[in-house]
Amino acid sequence: MPSLSEALQPFSAVLLTGGSSGIGKSFIQLCGNLKPELRICNLSRHAPDKKILPGAPENLNHFSCDVSRFADVARAAGEVQAYLARQAPTGRVLLVNNSGAGSFGAFADLPLDRELAMIDLNVRGLVQLTGLLLPTLLARGGAVMNIASTVAYVPAPFAATYGATKAFVLHWTLALDEELRGSAVRAIAVCPGTTATGFFTAAGAVGNVLGSRLTLTPDAVARSALRALARGRGHVVPGFWNNVYTLVAARLPKAVAARAAARVFARRRALPAAT
Ligand SMILES: NC(=O)c1ccc[n+]([C@@H]2O[C@H](COP(=O)([O-])OP(=O)(O)OC[C@H]3O[C@@H](n4cnc5c(N)ncnc54)[C@H](OP(=O)(O)O)[C@@H]3O)[C@@H](O)[C@H]2O)c1
Repeated sequence: MPSLSEALQPFSAVLLTGGSSGIGKSFIQLCGNLKPELRICNLSRHAPDKKILPGAPENLNHFSCDVSRFADVARAAGEVQAYLARQAPTGRVLLVNNSGAGSFGAFADLPLDRELAMIDLNVRGLVQLTGLLLPTLLARGGAVMNIASTVAYVPAPFAATYGATKAFVLHWTLALDEELRGSAVRAIAVCPGTTATGFFTAAGAVGNVLGSRLTLTPDAVARSALRALARGRGHVVPGFWNNVYTLVAARLPKAVAARAAARVFARRRALPAAT
């Protein structure tokens, strides 16, 4: 079994969305510490703090990109490819589609434009970026790592659109991995459960969501993802209890799972604004 450092050895570059915070930030720190000479490119709206890589801050590059916007993704993909050709022309490339946003509440109460922007970010932008960069990955070898969620396993009332975007990411990634079999590229879906990041605050969730003992750190999620990549797996659920949950949830009839999930997600939904 290769160590995490050995797993990164064939890679010369990591291209990642959403590295300014949370799981993406931990992923940058982990990769940069394991292999300081890696060229790391972040695509998101805010630049990551270069101080998170004290060893080689010059190898962390930011490409401003709102992943929910078609034109931004097209421009940033071109800029990243030009950067790779100059600074890391050989070696495998790891693409990590991590940027994502959620929303909690009854669909009828949530602003429709935000729901559509979430689909653009979590689904359309991920597919667009993968499509634009896949020829480079196929030519050089590499991997596509897509961050889905444990919520991908069940219909998610009160997080209906978010849950469905993650179901798309999980199924699309597993299907892509099969299509890529025999090529120099693998795809892997990472399905974290509750993770201690700013995600729930940004999504408008209420209550002490992160208070559970089952909550993982973003570093634990990043390590689990890299370990799974090293093992050549197409899919990973970080954390023992998250694995138990997904194994059970996947076997339930969908309507039963939806009813059970409604009880959980109803507690997280933001109340409709008072009128
Ligand atoms: N935290 C959890 O419990 C949990 C569980 C399962 C799955 N996930 C998934 O994990 C991934 C990372 O989330 P996180 O927990 O680390 O949350 P986070 O700390 O809120 O990070 C979200 C990242 O997404 C980026 N992002 C948001 N909107 C963007 C946009 N329009 N364009 C480009 N980038 C955008 C942000 O970067 P900028 O602000 O720089 O744009 C930020 O770095 C997401 O896909 C999320 O769905 C999280």
